[in-house]
Amino acid sequence: MDDARRFGVLDRGELPAEWDQGELEALVPGQAERIARLREADPAFAAFYERAVRGLHLARDPADLKERVVTLLGRERGIVSRRLEALPTLPVEERKRHGRALNLIKQWLAEVEAGRRAALEHAAEVREALDVTLPGRRPWVGHAHVLAQIRDELLDLFHGLGYSVYTSPEVEHDEYNFAKLNFPPDHPARDAHDTYFVGPEVLLRTHTSPGWVRAMEEHRPPLRLVFPGRVYRAEQVDASHMDQFHQIDGLCVDRDVSLADLKGTLNTFAHSIYGPRVRTRIIPIYFPFVEPGAQLDVAGAICDGTGRTAGGRCPVCKGSGWSELLGAGMVHPNVFRAVGYDPVEVTGFAFGMGLERIAMARYGIPEIRLFLENDLRFLSQF
Ligand code: DAH
Repeated sequence: MDDARRFGVLDRGELPAEWDQGELEALVPGQAERIARLREADPAFAAFYERAVRGLHLARDPADLKERVVTLLGRERGIVSRRLEALPTLPVEERKRHGRALNLIKQWLAEVEAGRRAALEHAAEVREALDVTLPGRRPWVGHAHVLAQIRDELLDLFHGLGYSVYTSPEVEHDEYNFAKLNFPPDHPARDAHDTYFVGPEVLLRTHTSPGWVRAMEEHRPPLRLVFPGRVYRAEQVDASHMDQFHQIDGLCVDRDVSLADLKGTLNTFAHSIYGPRVRTRIIPIYFPFVEPGAQLDVAGAICDGTGRTAGGRCPVCKGSGWSELLGAGMVHPNVFRAVGYDPVEVTGFAFGMGLERIAMARYGIPEIRLFLENDLRFLSQF
């Protein structure tokens, strides 16, 4: 070793032994010939060069490569550079032989370095490259809630029948929710409309019918309006009762509006919702704000009117074969009086339906609470 240094011979022992793990021919071909040529000058040069080439091949990244090159060719402390500097101290003969070999080594190692740098850069590019064959991630697309879908479908239908949308407050005066709709103060009809009070006379509306009163107070007939919205009742919550749900009321007021107009409208509606073959019936029932009052039933949507399904009693119609679809009737003269209309001059009909009930009957949904739970396993089915 001392000899080698003195004579400017390269010693592979100055390079880490692990460098030998690298490949020889991977970066620049023809190394065997180069090594043979160096061996003629001195076997130590050849051995050093070989380890150096293998070591450069092992560089993991550009920074590592740089470090290895500095060890070999660095201007100040690179092993090869120092040997070149020491040349003048050698006898003339050796100086020539060593000089030629050292310059070849310097030049060839620079080539190998360039080869390794190109390979590393290429690998980095491949790693970062955009793989256009990779399937993209689809953006998550939501959709309207099943109740919103039904609401929109109904509004669309009534729009086609000439109805406009009127929205009225969810927090309502007792007067509009009850009194002007002909609920006398202590009438038992109020029992079915127990609700949450915000103040002595202010409550969460129990139906969308108060909208009629507001609309009629604002406008003169003829009127054809639908009133969609959320309503509240202080219900004991169970599979078919919630303390909030959704309704759409409808109101048609003009001269000479008759019960026949109501029947025609309701049948159009039922057929549009349940298909043209569904059987309907209208039976009399009491609501304070209509006279006569009626209920529209449809033959069981899932049991086809038989009251029975494969599992036994039909869960939607509860065995009766008929499901109540909505309430309706001819607007009560007292309601017209309350809004300043002359009940002799104008007549009208109204109807009101619950959206949850329609959705449950149409899709056979057994549990009303599902609508509000926001469970995507349920919601994404519609
Ligand atoms: N508002 C009534 C309720 O929620 C339903 C109703 C019945 C609405 C008859 C109407 C109607 O428009 O004419 O119980």
